Amino acid sequence: MLLNILLVFHLLSFLVLVMDLAARRIVLRRLGTPKEKLASTRRWQGLSKAPVAAAYVLLLITGGIMTTQLWQFTDAWILGGIGGYAVISGLAPAVVKAFHKTVRPEAAEWWARLGALVHIVFCMITKPSWALLPFVLVGFLAASIVLALAATSRTQRRWRLAGTWAGIFIAAGGLFWWQLEASKLPSSFSMMDYMPMMHTHNAEMVSVEKLVEPPSATAKDIQLTTKEAEVKIGGKTVKGWTYNGASPGPTLHAKVGERLRVTLANKLPVPTSIHWHGVVLPNSQDGVAGVTQDAVQPGEKFVYEFTPKHPGTYWYHSHQDPAHQVDMGLFGALVVDPATPSDGEQEVVAVSHTWHTGDLTVNGQTEPAPIQVEPGKPLRLRLVNSDSNPLPLAIGGAPFKVLAFDSGMINQPGELGDLRYSVAGAGRIDLGVTLAAGQELNVKLGEQRPVTLRLVTPRSKPADLSHVTTIFDPLDYGSASGTQDLPRPAKTWRLNIDEGPGFFNGRFGWFYTTDGKRFPHGPMLMVHEGQTYEVTFVNRSRDNHPMHLHGHLFQVMSIDGKASTGSPLMVDNINVAQHQTVTIRFTADNPGIWMAHCHNLIHAFDGMDLMVAYENVTTPYLVGGDKANQPE
Ligand code: C2O
Ligand code: CU
Repeated sequence: MLLNILLVFHLLSFLVLVMDLAARRIVLRRLGTPKEKLASTRRWQGLSKAPVAAAYVLLLITGGIMTTQLWQFTDAWILGGIGGYAVISGLAPAVVKAFHKTVRPEAAEWWARLGALVHIVFCMITKPSWALLPFVLVGFLAASIVLALAATSRTQRRWRLAGTWAGIFIAAGGLFWWQLEASKLPSSFSMMDYMPMMHTHNAEMVSVEKLVEPPSATAKDIQLTTKEAEVKIGGKTVKGWTYNGASPGPTLHAKVGERLRVTLANKLPVPTSIHWHGVVLPNSQDGVAGVTQDAVQPGEKFVYEFTPKHPGTYWYHSHQDPAHQVDMGLFGALVVDPATPSDGEQEVVAVSHTWHTGDLTVNGQTEPAPIQVEPGKPLRLRLVNSDSNPLPLAIGGAPFKVLAFDSGMINQPGELGDLRYSVAGAGRIDLGVTLAAGQELNVKLGEQRPVTLRLVTPRSKPADLSHVTTIFDPLDYGSASGTQDLPRPAKTWRLNIDEGPGFFNGRFGWFYTTDGKRFPHGPMLMVHEGQTYEVTFVNRSRDNHPMHLHGHLFQVMSIDGKASTGSPLMVDNINVAQHQTVTIRFTADNPGIWMAHCHNLIHAFDGMDLMVAYENVTTPYLVGGDKANQPE
């Protein structure tokens, strides 16, 4: 609310400057002889002085406060925008006058102010290093005007204008092309090239390949074959990429302490890999092409072996060009049961996915059939959001509990009534319910074209979820008693997420940065085994960023300054909504080079990738290279 009021005042004061400019134009254009023009311009200048000065001050104050409140009116804006405006509009007339005696300073000033206003807008949306660009352009413009005005004949003036403008376009075009080229990633590189050298602990260096579990005589064998297949989505048939012919792929079941051996056979025309999202496993089994392994080439096989440590709802998906491959259908659920399963629990696994046809599906269905549930028996609904965007839920019809987020079990979850909650992109939620006969629990997924999942008992009726407005807040859910927060961190990072125009890998577009950086530059979070670290994500952009860390669970400490007071929230994925600040902690207890990234896979493709790298771990794998490894 406060932010919106500030924004209104901010834009109003900007409008005052624009109107001042318009008024000057009218005065300059309309009124009689040059002398009269000058006189009225002066008069206007006198009249407008107070409001214009007030507008400046208001711009500065509101902009300043908004900056502290996470609006991305960045430091560049405050320093470059307003400062630039004052400098340009103040100096320009004097400069122009020095070049040519007959130039009317008020005309020069007008153009200078226009340029400066454009500059303010530019600074609002961009990052510091770009804020200089308008100065250069305005300089060019001023030079071209000065040259043209100094011409002695009409033809000369025309030639000079044409010449300087051609120069501007060629220079700008050249600059653009150069930036585009310079942004291209090398065709082959090692993540090691981007890590600061800090092997001060004298620790022995170990390669990712060596980070495996000791061999096990017994294992649960699973075959996953990636291949092209027709997938039916709400009556339409689309070409998809599948595991064993289906998307979602088969739901895999594992047990804590039981070795899994998954053989991936790649029958796709492109290389692929499997990442076990959320699973704490040895780094070499993490499935990140170019970091923890080479992408599995068409016709080749790869064996993943690991022993799950924590029960929970997980999913698996390709981590070779994932933005494309997950979109094509390469994902499925992985359920890890406790070592001694609680018997008598019914289970429903629901994988939601929005296809490129625009259809939201649950287990591939746009209209899933009601699920018959045995009354009086506890049921666990495991919901996986395999999308990049948050999945809005409306849940109701019968009392239920939230048993877990991702694989983090809730300590003493309380009973809940009808409510709304959004599952982060790539996030999971486990709901627990015991239905009485005639009762049913409904979960409505999505908003525009929702899909409703009905857990029904004999003769139950659908719930009306249209009036559900209460929003569930996980921060004070469950109980903290008997639990412990992760210890004080050895180091903390504060990472601003910003947005703006930019160049990335040969493309020009609107991109996000983390701490001003993009893949492969980091940020690189270098960690030391055994210590706890804290990361605060400050989202100054206007989009959701589901931040995900591989190979670890992290604890959500606070959101927007509100501390978690309920059950500790141990997750592998957290949505950082627009203008939100989220603080997490993790303990570095699983050596490796671990990706951490925004799980909006398009954002990751555009460079929103971090690394949590243990100081003594190296990787022999290359991004790019002859295996065409593409981790994001
Ligand atoms: Cu679900 Cu890096 O991935
Ligand atoms: Cu993002």
